[in-house]
Amino acid sequence: MAQNLTFTMIKPCAVRNGHIGSILKMISERGFRIKAMKLTHMTRENAEAFYGIHAGKPFFEGLVSFMSSGPIVAAILEKENAIADFRELIGSTNPANAAPGTIRQLFAESFTANAIHGSDSDENALIEGSFFFSQMEQF
Ligand code: RTP
Ligand code: MG
Repeated sequence: MAQNLTFTMIKPCAVRNGHIGSILKMISERGFRIKAMKLTHMTRENAEAFYGIHAGKPFFEGLVSFMSSGPIVAAILEKENAIADFRELIGSTNPANAAPGTIRQLFAESFTANAIHGSDSDENALIEGSFFFSQMEQF
């Protein structure tokens, strides 16, 4: 996979609260191009597998319950320096620390219900994108 891609999910809280359009607008205006996108609903098993790296941590059960609580929007995004630029656009994991104007500062409800996911490395973008998109290797 090229190094100009990242993977994102608009999380169940943001979908429930009607923020899909506002968030996609921010992503687009920041210069990301949408290469693939779908509305889907993770099962508990999907969420356990996706966040497997956090298994056993105190917040794992709450994270899995939340991520399988409603529909999400999964997408592959393309931009130069995609991983770092997208993490900057979404803001800190804890919305209390997220910079003004970031997606999490604007739309997150809590540490768990923090509106959006962004991959943290090229390697994880490939792994995470492949979880939702079978054609991932072709991008
Ligand atoms: P994400 O993967 O969802 O984009 O979030 P992130 O990289 O900013 O944070 P990560 O460390 O990957 O954690 C995944 C999600 O788990 C929840 N979390 N809670 N209470 C805690 O200490 C704690 N740590 C992580 C957050 O909801 C985070 O988005
Ligand atoms: Mg993460």
